[in-house]
Amino acid sequence: MKHLTATAAFLLAFTAATFGQNVFSISTGPGENASTQMGISWATGLDVHDSYVLYTEESDADWSRAIKVLPQQQELCTSFQGIPSNRADGEAFFEDAVFTKCGVMLTGLRPDTDYKYTVVDASKTDSPLKSREYHFRTAGASKWSACIISDFHSYPPLPGRLVSAMGMIDRIQEIDPSLDFVFSPGDVVAWGGSYSFWRRLFEEPNFSELMWARVNGNHDNWTKTTTLTGNFDIPHDFFTYTSYYPANGYRGELGICYHFRYGNTLFIMLNTEDMSDKKGEFEEAAQWVRSVVAQARAGEDAPTFIVACMHYEWFVGTNGRTSQYGRWSEVFDEVGMDLAVAGNNHVYVRTQPLYKGEKTDGKRNGTVYIQTTASDNERGRSFADEPLQNAELIEKRWTEGSKSVSAIHMEVSSDTISLKLRDRDGNVVDSCTVHAKKH
Ligand SMILES: [Fe+2]
Repeated sequence: MKHLTATAAFLLAFTAATFGQNVFSISTGPGENASTQMGISWATGLDVHDSYVLYTEESDADWSRAIKVLPQQQELCTSFQGIPSNRADGEAFFEDAVFTKCGVMLTGLRPDTDYKYTVVDASKTDSPLKSREYHFRTAGASKWSACIISDFHSYPPLPGRLVSAMGMIDRIQEIDPSLDFVFSPGDVVAWGGSYSFWRRLFEEPNFSELMWARVNGNHDNWTKTTTLTGNFDIPHDFFTYTSYYPANGYRGELGICYHFRYGNTLFIMLNTEDMSDKKGEFEEAAQWVRSVVAQARAGEDAPTFIVACMHYEWFVGTNGRTSQYGRWSEVFDEVGMDLAVAGNNHVYVRTQPLYKGEKTDGKRNGTVYIQTTASDNERGRSFADEPLQNAELIEKRWTEGSKSVSAIHMEVSSDTISLKLRDRDGNVVDSCTVHAKKH
């Protein structure tokens, strides 16, 4: 930067500022096959009529092989307009967010390759504006890793929440510089209806450096007033208008529930906001899981591991009472789920492999259930002295009370998934290994 003239530096800063107002909320998500497909999500102001993605391999230093792709999704979004919210200074206001939501699925990518891209605002043909560079790595390496983190409830009036969570991801990257992606069981923002929160979130460098695979958390799905009105039956616009995931879910859940393949692992992402028993939603979700697994196992390149992810917890961390474990364990036993990841409860809970309600050695069958802590240094909870139910199933619980920050470092090889719960300093607090099953 020191070689730039003052004018050049000013112009650069000016371009970045102008660009941020016109094109924003850029993020990368997996395609159905993350070896060759990646989804790019972004949004533009209404005065931007022409935006596109320009991408190339990281090794293409001068971008001479860059490919231009136009958005496949280009949709007016008014879902956030007028929603009660708070500004960063705490002042109450109504969201002013009408924009064009864009997305494109990149295809034909080279496996195990680092890519870079920018989003271009070409409305002014004489001087197109480019975003900063974004990066992702396609699947395909025999060993790969992810950072599992959730429940940081990003809230601009309390910026420390985001600082804590992003610092935790940075910590995992220090330990594992080749980290492949972030895998989140949800609650990344405090109120999903507050578009300004999302927009701020996506400015974080961890969104330009890494692909993110998220599920819908209750906070991601709510607004400032949801808990006051008690109307929890909210459409999932806040999730779909802030992401571009594969549209391979089931009826009513396209792009919210989705599955993707990363290397030898099939990930099945579920939406616990639409999983009521009364409405038959649970059975619909279960049926979808069965069919996705059956199809994957019947395919030529059957996955070694299958991982399910949803927001609501398997067990209540404070007392061990069963929650989603009770609903899902039969289905997971039936399909041979290897790992089940959740969040929401803010207390870390991890089991041994469980099959038909009993521990196994994990060699032939059994699902490891694991749930994250909060990671915002603020909304964690302690488990104090309540007697523990299901003590025979729960192997480890951990929390730092309200000020909890942690992530699970997931490292995958051809025959094992290693899971390490790390605290904010990177110390390993708990670890376990999921083995490839011998059938
Ligand atoms: Fe949460």
